[in-house]
Amino acid sequence: MGPPGAGKGTQAPRLSEHLSAPHVSTGDMLRAEVAASSNLGLKAKTFMDAGDLVPDDVMIGMIVARLQADDASDGIILDGFPRTVAQAVALDEALYNSGGSIDLAVSIDVDRDVLINRLAGRATCKNCKTPYHLTFSPPATAGECDKCDGELDQREDDQPEAVKNRLKVFDKQTAPVLDYYRGRKKLLSIDGAASPDEVFTSLVNAISS
Ligand code: AP5
Ligand code: MG
Ligand code: ZN
Repeated sequence: MGPPGAGKGTQAPRLSEHLSAPHVSTGDMLRAEVAASSNLGLKAKTFMDAGDLVPDDVMIGMIVARLQADDASDGIILDGFPRTVAQAVALDEALYNSGGSIDLAVSIDVDRDVLINRLAGRATCKNCKTPYHLTFSPPATAGECDKCDGELDQREDDQPEAVKNRLKVFDKQTAPVLDYYRGRKKLLSIDGAASPDEVFTSLVNAISS
């Protein structure tokens, strides 16, 4: 968990490899629906472009279905879900019904001005979704993904107005989810201001302790 630009999409794939558990990003799932012009994608796009949350019923349905896939049976790493208390409650219920539970909620904490700089310079591979930063972590060849040679793209919702709204939405709707996990002694906070490698080291150390 963490505000837009905290590094969820940078750290989750690394953790996924480290723990051999699938990385499930609701933002990536929604962007795939938008790219495919599916009904769900068309519905979600208006909310996403404005930086608003897609309605809970849509998101809960999406995750409950994803949890039932074979590769999710030994656990998954969620990125960007839950983002409202209603989503957190629905996730707990779905896991309880299948005999599981949340192990940990990890919050990546980063100052506001740093977040704004990160989002303004972000470029994402259209193909494999790897995030780059034009200043902090540029690709070896401009405009091209190091991993798959895919084309790099800037996200629609990284425009300044949408970023402002996404931060507001985080404070209003997602910060209470951190309290939800804190109250259940499941919340672990790590400092996300250091380099991606350093953040990953603190993430792994924090989880193993
Ligand atoms: P989503 O895709 O989840 O976006 P977000 O939460 O706004 O977060 P970001 O992906 O922008 O940030 P990140 O933390 O992944 O940062 P990243 O690693 O890329 O959601 C998008 C939209 O989908 C939502 O607004 C909503 O509409 C909808 N949605 C999704 N889930 C939903 C849900 N559950 N309910 C309702 N609606 C939902 O890093 C950012 C940049 O910083 C990159 O350029 C990166 O290279 C750089 N960077 C990362 N770490 C570092 C570092 N340590 N040092 C320097 N640079 C760094
Ligand atoms: Mg992300
Ligand atoms: Zn790529």
